[in-house]
Amino acid sequence: MTDDASNGWEAVARAFIAARSGVGADVVRNWSRSLPTGAAVLDLGCGAGVPVSRVLAEQGCQLHGIDASPTLVEAWRHRFPQAPVACEAAEASAFFDRAFDGIVAIGLLFLLEPAAQRAVIARVAAALVPRGRFLFTAPEQAVRWNDLLTGRASVSLGRDAYRRLLAEAGLQLERESIDGGGNHYFDAVRRRGGAVPSHASVRPLESD
Ligand SMILES: C[S@@+](CC[C@H](N)C(=O)[O-])C[C@H]1O[C@@H](n2cnc3c(N)ncnc32)[C@H](O)[C@@H]1O
Repeated sequence: MTDDASNGWEAVARAFIAARSGVGADVVRNWSRSLPTGAAVLDLGCGAGVPVSRVLAEQGCQLHGIDASPTLVEAWRHRFPQAPVACEAAEASAFFDRAFDGIVAIGLLFLLEPAAQRAVIARVAAALVPRGRFLFTAPEQAVRWNDLLTGRASVSLGRDAYRRLLAEAGLQLERESIDGGGNHYFDAVRRRGGAVPSHASVRPLESD
């Protein structure tokens, strides 16, 4: 991690808020329908909350947000004043020290170094209830590129590596989909009794 935990997003926060389209809302809405009514959901790398958090709130989810950009967290808090939000790095967060029915990370994972991606997946797994779901985006192929807005390096580990990291963390890749903007979604579920890695610092509140 550099000294900018947001990986360049704080510097472009205003431009990002202006540019973020509604793309992906339909995929998140469909995913939320696989969660229990009133599910506790964490939006990891929540940005300003539109469209992802807004869709989750509309679906009746108990919303929580985490993002490393103070400007984006402030915009999110303004939209969802009743919902808990923390300005911190996903790879170092305690995820509110609680368990979630679902966690989404849209446009986040590939911003991180591979070791940090692995750490986040482990933390996500540890913070999900059994049968809890994890939805995240990343290109299906292993690829490196520079983000258009921040100019920073991004890296997708690719489907095979994500499937393996998910399995090591006790999550099973169940579904994949693509939104109208061509973004690839991985939808995983925490296995009942699935192994939770010993290096994860948070534990689910419910035991398997
Ligand atoms: C591409 S934007 C996506 C935002 C939001 N998920 C959306 O779909 O509109 C990436 C987000 O990840 C956040 N971010 C970057 N690095 C982070 C980190 N290490 N921990 C938490 N959030 C981070 C940025 O601040 C930014 O809000």
